[in-house]
Parts: sequence; C-alpha cells; structure tokens
Amino acid sequence: EKGTYPHYMLKEIDEQPLVMRKIIQTYQNEHGELTIDREIIDALNEADRLYIIAAGTSYHAGLVGKQFIEKMAKIPVEVHISSEFGYNMPLLSEKPLFIFISQSGETADSRAVLVNVKEMGYPTLTITNVPGSTLSREADFTLLLHAGPEIAVASTKAYTAQIAVLSILAEVTARSRGLKVGFDLVKELGIVANAMEVLCDSKELIEQIAREFLSVTRNCFFIGRGIDFYVGLEGALKLKEISYIQAEGFAGGELKHGTIALIEEGTPVIALATQESVNLSIRGNVKEVVARGANPCIISMKGLNHDEDSFVIPEVNELLTPLISVIPLQILAYYAALHRDCDVDKPRNLAKSVTVE
Ligand code: F6R
Repeated sequence: EKGTYPHYMLKEIDEQPLVMRKIIQTYQNEHGELTIDREIIDALNEADRLYIIAAGTSYHAGLVGKQFIEKMAKIPVEVHISSEFGYNMPLLSEKPLFIFISQSGETADSRAVLVNVKEMGYPTLTITNVPGSTLSREADFTLLLHAGPEIAVASTKAYTAQIAVLSILAEVTARSRGLKVGFDLVKELGIVANAMEVLCDSKELIEQIAREFLSVTRNCFFIGRGIDFYVGLEGALKLKEISYIQAEGFAGGELKHGTIALIEEGTPVIALATQESVNLSIRGNVKEVVARGANPCIISMKGLNHDEDSFVIPEVNELLTPLISVIPLQILAYYAALHRDCDVDKPRNLAKSVTVE
C-alpha cells in the first residue's frame, strides 16, 4: 500500500535508507561480519571470469557491480545486455560463472540467456528481489535483495539494493581470497543509509532544480566519468521513462566526439562529480558545454564541491557513491514527470516486468 504517498515511486525512493539497513542486517552473521552462502563464494572463486547479464536498470547496477568485483575481489567481470547476448555471445573464458541481475526475476530476455548457458553446463547465480521467481528457481544459486515489493514501473529501491548486494558479494569474495578491501563495508553502508536519509529529506530543493532545469526542456544530458558515467545512464533512463524528456547519459570525455553538437542555448546538462580523480576533468566538460549555451546542473559530493554546484550530496566511500548520487536523479525524474502531468507510476508503453523477448 502506498499509504499517505501520492505515488509508489516516491514511497519506494523514501524506503531506500530502510532497505539499506535491512540488507546490512540480513547479510550479517552473529559476529557482525558480512556473509554469503559458502557455495556461492566457492562458485565465484572457481570461476576465471564472471558474466553479468541484465536489462535496463538492472544492467546499470551490473556496470557498478563490475567495478566492485574487479576492484575488491580481483575477478574479471563482463556486463552484458541480456537481449544482445544470444546472438552476440562473446568468446567465453574457460570457467565462466553467470550472474543474472533481475528485480522481478521474470525478464524473458534474461531468462533466455539463463536457459542457454545452463544447457552449456555453466554455473548460474540470480540476484533478484522476488523469491521463487523464474530466474531464481532456474539458477543454481540465488541472492535476494530484500527491498520489499517494488510497484512503480520505474525501478528505484531495487537498483540501490542490487548495488548494495553486489558490494557485499565483492567484499565477502575478496575476504575469502585473503584480499584486503581497505575499509569496513558494514560501517560504510551504514554511512550510506544515513546519507540516503539526508537526501530523501532534501526533496524540496531537488523539486526546485527540476522546475528550473526540466519543466520545459525537450531533452537533457547526463555526464559523468568513471562510476559517475554509469549513474548518469541510470539518471537518463529514469528521466526518459517517466517524464518522456529525451535524455542520454554520456561519458564526459566522449561528448566532444559527437554529442556536443546537440547542445543548444538552454539545454540542461546534469553533471555528476563524486570522484576525486576526475573532478576537474568533468568540470572541464561542463565548461565546454556551457561555452555552447548549456544550462549546467552540477551534482557533486561534499569535499569535492565548488561554489557553482546546484546540489551537494553527503560524503560516502568513493566506490559506494552510486548508492547515493542516484537518489537526487530519481527525485529529479519524479518531479519532472509530475510537473509535466505524466503518470509517474505507470508510464506509457511500459510494463513492470517484461516477459516477452
Ligand atoms: C527501469 C526499469 C527497467 C527494468 C528492466 C529489467 O526503471 O524498471 O529498465 O530494470 O526491465 O527488469 P528486471 O530487473 O525485473 O529484470
């Protein structure tokens, strides 16, 4: 039930701090350590390469998950769009493990790959929000998101839950391999949950930004470098699916190779700046678009922020920034859709789970 909320999407955005705490709790053992079934960790350790298969928002979570697994657990990861995998199958490694990320656990495109790789005899793990779902039943192993039912078509809390569970999977695998991740993930995810709360309490400011940047525009660009690029892809997907504004996410450095031609007087460009190593480069990209008339909205992380930034998110561990930088983008999409009288929870042409190929 959505209770006092006008829309499920807003309720689900607000549930994210709670979901984060629920995930930390559920994946902790009695000593406060994060744990995952031994057989899943063994399967990861036996693999020489992981193949993440997903669609839409879950694919975007997979892109972030790849960073975690490669950086923490040092296992190479490829991320593939499920609908492409069938006819564009990459040359597989000797011992692949397939990881399916699916909120619903019912996405036909992802299931088609699961059926196919199972026939080939490869081990499979599903990360889903729905226990007993098709992808969960058919895979060798399952990890649950514990996000509670997600009703709004636009996925919000499932995305952050997927990223959190992937971070835990990466950390536990790293530990099993004797690798040091250099921080206490339980503590860092706790900081993330608190930061999420702060962001969920900043809706008025974000609504104002939506009004200023998105109420009349035809299109909008999201730019970022590194992990911010992936969050930009998700921000663009959220915005287009519920507000029907044409939106695209770009790697900051890629702009000048074509997309910058689309920048006109007043085009909103939302730039993410949460990574110290690329903070100045992304700001350089903002200057390039501003010189061509763009209306820049910089969302930065505390400590990296400059005076001209539109919104500053609280400081969290650099690897975990997608968990919180996505929240203002979800809220922006929500208000952009609302201001344009769109049906927030049930956008046109879309279904919550896509059970056709
Ligand atoms: C976007 C959205 C879709 C889904 C995609 C995959 O907000 O909800 O892009 O992420 O259809 O769905 P699942 O995760 O259920 O496999």
